[in-house]
Amino acid sequence: MFLSECSTNSINAAAKNIVDGYLVAFPTETVYGLGADATNEGAVAKIYEAKGRPADHPLIVHIASMDAIGDWAEDISEYAINLARDFWPGPITLIFKRSKLAKDFVTGNQNTVGLRVPNQPIALALLKEFENLGGKGIAAPSANRFGAVSPTTAQAVKDELVNYLDQVNDVILDGGPCQVGVESTIIDCTAETPQILRLGAITKEMIAQSTGLLVIEEPTTDIRVSGSLESHYSPKAKVALDVNPEIGDGFIAIDSIPTPAGAIRLVAPSSIEGYARDLYSALRFADAQGLTKICVIQPEGDGLAAAIRDRLKRAAN
Ligand code: TXA
Ligand code: MG
Repeated sequence: MFLSECSTNSINAAAKNIVDGYLVAFPTETVYGLGADATNEGAVAKIYEAKGRPADHPLIVHIASMDAIGDWAEDISEYAINLARDFWPGPITLIFKRSKLAKDFVTGNQNTVGLRVPNQPIALALLKEFENLGGKGIAAPSANRFGAVSPTTAQAVKDELVNYLDQVNDVILDGGPCQVGVESTIIDCTAETPQILRLGAITKEMIAQSTGLLVIEEPTTDIRVSGSLESHYSPKAKVALDVNPEIGDGFIAIDSIPTPAGAIRLVAPSSIEGYARDLYSALRFADAQGLTKICVIQPEGDGLAAAIRDRLKRAAN
């Protein structure tokens, strides 16, 4: 079945589909991923094709537990182990020097590999079953077309990719809405000190606390993080930040800010966590309604609020 509920049987069948070289979209706590066997070149090529993503953009390899780090990575630093222990399963991706298993087709020709253990029961069950079947890891970018908003529901994956997936053999596992709603924090663990490449729910303070090290936040230019391209996470509607909406414009803001007259309230989250969780579905809803402009009042504060502003800046580009 193309859009599948998540019984043990359907999760196990989906793991088998991945072994057989097909694609499986699955829920994680951040956003839905579009998964393939990370050791199968043909299968990974299907991800790039479905997304319309340039081949030199690396994919994150999802693993069932930190026990699999050694399969994929070399020169693993002590602080990286601390991060994995403290935050996996969870919304953080760690970048390591790659092992021989991590081929150019999954790392976008880089000498590093990104690894993550997601904190979502269906994702973990899928990864465990894939491992039971002899699999090493599931390569999975967000399950959207290149440059578009990441999907946080199975229906959003279907809307986004229905014309680009094989409706007989590829599967979308429906695990309900994602709990975090923005993509994982990405940490480069290849240098003496951890460096944040993408902001997310695991904050700079949490990383400093876990590692006892100074955390660098400036992204370098030689590592390709497609989410750090200027225009990304973009709906069809124009996104305008911190401006007053005109009549008929969409409006997103924390719930203490009232809706200006004539604007169409898309979401009114009562917390920063709620803001992150509901933002992408609100952007999609605006497109579904055919709105041409969305005015967003950005959340204040550090941590997750900074991750939200980072995505909004790119969505507005
Ligand atoms: O929360 C997430 O991370 C979601 C879920 C599905 O796990 N995945 C996700 O994947 O956001 P994607 O491909 O949409 O974004 C992953 C980012 C990309 O910008 C990619 O360039 C970067 O991670 N990345 C992956 N491997 C890397 C590497 N070896 N070095 C630097 N950046 C890397
Ligand atoms: Mg993405």
